[in-house]
Amino acid sequence: NMSEKATCQRFQYKGCNFLSPIYTIEHLEKLEHFEVRDSDVFAVTYPKSGTMWMQQILSLIYSDDDTPAVQSKSAMERVPWIELPNSNFEVRQSPRLSVTHLPYHLVPKGLKDKQGKVIYVARNPRDVLMSLYYLHNHLSTFETPKSFQDFMEQFVDGRVEFSSWFDHIKDWYDHRHEFNFLYMTYEDMKKDLRGAIQKVCNFLEKHLDDKKLDTIVKQCTFSTMKATQVVNYEKTPDKSPENAFLRKGTFADLEKHFAEPQIEMFNRIFQEKLKDSPLRFSWDN
Ligand code: A3P
Repeated sequence: NMSEKATCQRFQYKGCNFLSPIYTIEHLEKLEHFEVRDSDVFAVTYPKSGTMWMQQILSLIYSDDDTPAVQSKSAMERVPWIELPNSNFEVRQSPRLSVTHLPYHLVPKGLKDKQGKVIYVARNPRDVLMSLYYLHNHLSTFETPKSFQDFMEQFVDGRVEFSSWFDHIKDWYDHRHEFNFLYMTYEDMKKDLRGAIQKVCNFLEKHLDDKKLDTIVKQCTFSTMKATQVVNYEKTPDKSPENAFLRKGTFADLEKHFAEPQIEMFNRIFQEKLKDSPLRFSWDN
């Protein structure tokens, strides 16, 4: 149904949906030609996959001894989104830490010449769907979903911001050899946060002593991040006072939304779409 599909996007740029009023085609066009420096670090995520978590980790790894100063700024200031027209990417000082939700084919071309570094964080699609569903109910930027079933279909078809989860992850992963690339998962970060941070440090060739590593681990736990309001998104247009960005970090309310046939349907689609991919995902329930 084309007319229904058309309502899901504010504009589409080279096959990718943009819904929020903050994006402009002009900036996206410019961005592909941004000059990349060797010292640039890009965290790449599909929305709701641990973006803010990686912003926190990266900014602390590069914070030297000035942890409190780093923490006084919001994640968005510390590690800006390159797709936002006000990212100031070109004028920032090295090392530039950035984050992006962009699909592989829209990032600065220089990245593919193996300048800069890419850390891709993936999260299992069922938790991404749930987290995104909450976000759509929470932020006034997005249309409130008609029902969970309806939103699930939208997600599976890629009729959401940044389009299909499946395409995002497959494209980035299939093209990983074109980049200095590290693949991480939200689930591994949850299982072993210290190990995950260590892995990021190794990739970035940052050698931190145990004490510094301990400090970073502590600042990156879900409870610290939630308690310290590290991530100040007070300015987002909320429909409710609940913090939609640090919701809970666990997955407990599956049954509330997924009925048995929906779970089966989701699993079937998910397996079908990833059947040729070496990527594997797990989730709790
Ligand atoms: P939930 O909505 O499932 O709780 P993003 O930053 O890409 O928007 O991702 C948001 C998701 O990451 C939210 O998931 C949030 O709770 C989770 N998250 C953020 N920081 C986390 C942390 N330190 N530990 C575990 N989950 C975290």
